[in-house]
Amino acid sequence: MTEYHDDFAPTHRPEPYFIKVVEPFRLKSAAERTRAIRDAGYNPFLLRSEDIYIDLLTDSGTAAMSNRQWAMMLEVQESELGSAASRLFVERCREVLGFRYILPTHQGRAAEHLLSQAMIRPGQYVINNMYFTTTREHQERAGGVFVDLIVEEAYDPRSVYPFKGDIDPKKLVDFIAKHGAERIAYVCIETNVNMAGGQPISLGMTKEISAICRYHRIPVIFDATRVAENAYLIKQREAAYADWTIKEIILELMAQGDGCTISAKKDVLVNIGGILGVNDPGLYERCAALCATFEGTPWSGGLASRDLAAMAVGLEEMTDYDYISSRVEQVHYLWSRVKEAGVPVVEPPGGHAVFLDAQAFLPHIPQEEFPAQRLAAALYETAGVRGMERGIVSAGRDPSTGRHRGSKLELVRLTIPRRVYTYSHMDVVADGVLDVFRHRERLTGLRMVYEPPTLRFFTARFEPR
Ligand code: F0G
Repeated sequence: MTEYHDDFAPTHRPEPYFIKVVEPFRLKSAAERTRAIRDAGYNPFLLRSEDIYIDLLTDSGTAAMSNRQWAMMLEVQESELGSAASRLFVERCREVLGFRYILPTHQGRAAEHLLSQAMIRPGQYVINNMYFTTTREHQERAGGVFVDLIVEEAYDPRSVYPFKGDIDPKKLVDFIAKHGAERIAYVCIETNVNMAGGQPISLGMTKEISAICRYHRIPVIFDATRVAENAYLIKQREAAYADWTIKEIILELMAQGDGCTISAKKDVLVNIGGILGVNDPGLYERCAALCATFEGTPWSGGLASRDLAAMAVGLEEMTDYDYISSRVEQVHYLWSRVKEAGVPVVEPPGGHAVFLDAQAFLPHIPQEEFPAQRLAAALYETAGVRGMERGIVSAGRDPSTGRHRGSKLELVRLTIPRRVYTYSHMDVVADGVLDVFRHRERLTGLRMVYEPPTLRFFTARFEPR
């Protein structure tokens, strides 16, 4: 851990790295930005990257890799069968995550696909803590019935409950009593719940949920995509683990489950890759067979050796205290700046992003007129900053009724890429948000003019009303 002399404390927890490669970029003019967002149908996903100044669309695949990652990528040999990179990757996954059997995949959703197909029988329930878009999609494609049993606090942006990602044990016990354990394929627990505002799960409650599931022989699967950030927040907020290392907390957390899927494009600090880990050899065999059909060989997942090598190094780097603390504290700095100015945000601050509460920000725009989509577009127009709608558009339509699913949360996510931006960039973002906030009454709602059949938030188009 970085320590300074006695009573010297720098203003920010500094970035624990030096910048060796840079990518120049410039803010386009106000007129160019107005044209760009109109051409993109008021959907920031459809902006061209050259039109963006600070890109907070996603923390996925956007991390800056380290010199050690690049060096290892060049060092490993590119032979498919029995490659050293594959062995290194599997060993590192076992060491950091603790699962016995490991499969690499292209991305997180590929791991979700294999696992959902291998574990869900049509008509079975899959219990989740809120939802992630692709996770739910794969559960439903496998014939599963999606169920969300997250704690109620997760739906209240103002609640400062420290672990808004937890599953509610009472809801779980009641659900099992009502439907029977055999009708539940598994309980899927996401770390650092993305759609709830990057809110962590606690180790204490996860142990309780795991004990309930073990008693009823229901498997527990983690979506451990942001497990390092969650471990840091456990260390900060759960007194019993304040003295544990990030590595120890991750292992203890994963020990409560039977497997995990991971999008390595987030905490694992790579630009492409996913991980599937399980303990049951039979389940591994089924997943490996599906991997061979959909991804590539079970030892490569269709990735190049260099991608496996980058993941192996990233798995270690994500557990470094200096790194993960500076990462999460940078997010908290942006959160504090906008919160202190009175902007409605999801509280408390989460791990990977700051979530603006668009419903409270734009109370004059009803949810059917897409306030979060409107706010994301306005932030781009004002400051060249790209964020993402996480509300009624992302929630999509109910496949059985065809109606908007509705969403209790109507948010704009400002997602901070890892090791890419500095504190001065965070200040630009905060200033942009405050500017939109000052002029918020001027904004009107949107009308959706194009809607694709699934995952509509990627390509839907809008017009101002
Ligand atoms: N699980 C979680 C919690 C995620 O946030 C994501 C991706 C996935 C699974 C899917 O992984 O993209 O590698 O296939 N989230 C990105 C985001 C897209 O911007 O939040 P993937």
